Amino acid sequence: MVVKLPIASTDMLPSQTPSKNPTWTLRISSLSIGLALLSLPFLIKLDGRPHADWQQFLGRFHPLAVHLPIGLLLLVPLLEIVGAFRPVLRETAEFVMGVAFACCLVALTLGYLLAYGSGDSGTAVSRHMWGSTVLTISVLVCLLLRPLWSSASIPRTHVAERLYPLSLICVLLVLFWTAHQGGSLARGSNYLTQYMPQPMKRWIAPGTVRSAAQNPDSFYAKHIHPALDGNCVVCHGEGKVMAGLRMDSYELLMKGGKDGAVIVPGHPEKSLLIERVTLPTGHKLFMPAEGRPPLKPEEIAWIKAWIEQGASPTATQLKGVLIREDAKELPPEPVGDYSSLMPEIKQIEAGQGAKLLQVSRKPSDGLILSAVDVASSFGDTQLAQFQKFAPFIVEAELGRTAITDASFETLSRFTHLRALHLEGTSVTGNGLSKLASLRELNYLNLSGTKVTSTSVHSIDTMKSLRHIYLFNTPAQPAPPADALQPIAKKTDDPIAQ
Ligand code: HEC
Repeated sequence: MVVKLPIASTDMLPSQTPSKNPTWTLRISSLSIGLALLSLPFLIKLDGRPHADWQQFLGRFHPLAVHLPIGLLLLVPLLEIVGAFRPVLRETAEFVMGVAFACCLVALTLGYLLAYGSGDSGTAVSRHMWGSTVLTISVLVCLLLRPLWSSASIPRTHVAERLYPLSLICVLLVLFWTAHQGGSLARGSNYLTQYMPQPMKRWIAPGTVRSAAQNPDSFYAKHIHPALDGNCVVCHGEGKVMAGLRMDSYELLMKGGKDGAVIVPGHPEKSLLIERVTLPTGHKLFMPAEGRPPLKPEEIAWIKAWIEQGASPTATQLKGVLIREDAKELPPEPVGDYSSLMPEIKQIEAGQGAKLLQVSRKPSDGLILSAVDVASSFGDTQLAQFQKFAPFIVEAELGRTAITDASFETLSRFTHLRALHLEGTSVTGNGLSKLASLRELNYLNLSGTKVTSTSVHSIDTMKSLRHIYLFNTPAQPAPPADALQPIAKKTDDPIAQ
């Protein structure tokens, strides 16, 4: 693998003299450093509890600091190989490796601070920790062996001749493995495999193909587990166990974390999990932590309803939650450009009434109409005033407002509407069928209204509608008698589910 430079060029390479061999003092001090590093994982016990803030503060520089030694270590073999043709480059290899070693020590220290400070634990954490310890020691070994390898006084058949290239290969292998463990910690162990084509996945990571739940038809397996898996398991899974809480299986989820159960069946309001995901996003204890995107409103609604109805691992249906499996989740269609209306949007934003919020900086992502803060004074007339913006509104938060059935006419002009919140309003569903023209409507919340099943059936044909909420309504489907029992048969009528 490593091409050795012909011996004769000693005069060109002043370092290739026997005097450069490591002295005994150097060897002994290296041995002590090595032993000290090895004992670290035993001395620092990761107890899964967060510690001092300063440790976390410094520790958070670890992800930044690791890239430098990785880059330098990859450079070493390159310098050795290219150095066969350009001896001056080979000269720099030892220096680069020395710097890499120093950087490894820094990254290792910061890594320990991060893990210990933030209360990380779990198999991936300890694998990553051991990997980086072994890596740092291997780099040290390479540093000690290299002068022997490049020394002109050692016969080319001597064992030292082979040891250095072998150790360098070892360093690279350990480096890749450790970096992969570190990547799994930061991004989740399924980061690489999540979008991998199925056949490749079956071959490379067969474990990830099987379903995480024992009852694949249950509400838990279909909706709760995927939401937690996609948003929480990266920090609350086998690899990384924050706060002693794991959510990668039903049993572990129910077992809870360092503060006990996080789910109290029947009582979403007493469940720590709900408390954490519904805090204001900027709150220190908000979950998912570290500024990750919050759960979607429908995911929170499912988890709440699931807990309220017993948090069963087997129930296939929940009352008041209709998820139409046949409806397709369409990629959002871009709306037109509302830039010309920007001055008016800004004016509305500064005013006292309902707000128009930009989904993103891209005008084609649309606007959100939010009447949450002025709910009681927001009625049919107020809604009608927003008609001008109708084609740009993708979400309407009209929960608990004073609007009535008369507004269905206005709403039917919101042609790009994807989510409509009407919970707690006095609508009865008369005219609900007008919404059938909204081709992108995906989420409809009618909980706590007077809608009847007849009016709900009037929008049965809507292909896009996937999530309908009907808690506390006359239309709320009766809970299946055996809701908490395993149900093998799936009903064919999607709206009845
Ligand atoms: C980036 C890492 C990270 C992610 C992602 C994350 N958490 Fe956490 N979680 C933590 C940390 C760190 C703690 C411990 C500190 C604390 O209590 O805030 C914690 C604690 C918790 C606790 C308290 C457990 C106990 O017993 O005290 C709950 C509940 C929780 N998380 C739920 C969730 C949920 C639900 C999600 C996904 C929606 C999630 N977490 C995603 C890092 C994370």
